[in-house]
Amino acid sequence: MGKAIADRLLEAGARLAIVDVNPEAIKRVAETESRALAILADVSCEDDVRRAVDQTVARFERLDILVNNAGTEIPGTVEELTSKQWDRQFAVNVKGAFLFSKYSIPYIRRQGGAILNIASIDALVSYPGNAAYDSSKAALLAFTRTLAIDHGRDGIRVNAICPGYIDTPLLNSYFERQPNPPEARRAVVAQTPVGRMGTPGEIAEAALFLVSDAASFISGAYLVVDGGISVAGR
Ligand SMILES: NC(=O)c1ccc[n+]([C@@H]2O[C@H](COP(=O)([O-])OP(=O)(O)OC[C@H]3O[C@@H](n4cnc5c(N)ncnc54)[C@H](O)[C@@H]3O)[C@@H](O)[C@H]2O)c1
Repeated sequence: MGKAIADRLLEAGARLAIVDVNPEAIKRVAETESRALAILADVSCEDDVRRAVDQTVARFERLDILVNNAGTEIPGTVEELTSKQWDRQFAVNVKGAFLFSKYSIPYIRRQGGAILNIASIDALVSYPGNAAYDSSKAALLAFTRTLAIDHGRDGIRVNAICPGYIDTPLLNSYFERQPNPPEARRAVVAQTPVGRMGTPGEIAEAALFLVSDAASFISGAYLVVDGGISVAGR
């Protein structure tokens, strides 16, 4: 999803830095693009984040848009999860967004801009055996609202996207954990009003809209992009 968002922003004319802990992930975007900077960093590590923001501003001399997309999903009920796993879940999905916002806002406020957090429909509806992930995404929505309130007058709009089932490696590992993965996939498609899963490109279109001037009066909001699954009753 991060790659699709980066590609769409590049297409729209942005210059950008792509941050990932996995060297393969950043290589795919950055090697082919002179307007992109690849930064290897763990979003949960304060020194890494400070370095990533510094490198970005050193290269592009400004920072207008921050997209907090990096995320991980550590499954388990409360009984199954260790406290270390709980902490890791929050460190990546919530603290990562906190750290990037903390170090980016001083630059974004110079001319104004936008922050976008990639949450999940799991922030709004709950799924079995996903206590830490669902809680982390709900926290990210609250964080989005607070940032919007605190920094609106800095000219910074802050919003979130709640994706539903989007076909990515993360979703694939979710299905692989199910007793019957093909059946689990079929069930999701059957429950989704539009009759299919989403694509990373469809999240990227929503992301471009929310960070662009087309969304100039939208702040503190979340946009559900899920083909209707979160409002579908049985
Ligand atoms: N795929 C879905 O159906 C779905 C649904 C709702 C929300 N989301 C959210 O969308 C975002 C993107 O998910 P995706 O499906 O593309 O997942 P993905 O696993 O395909 O990609 C996530 C990326 O984040 C990177 N990452 C993980 N931990 C990191 C860390 N500590 N520091 C830096 N980078 C790190 C990974 O290396 C990977 O490249 C995540 O926040 C995820 O929770 C996904």
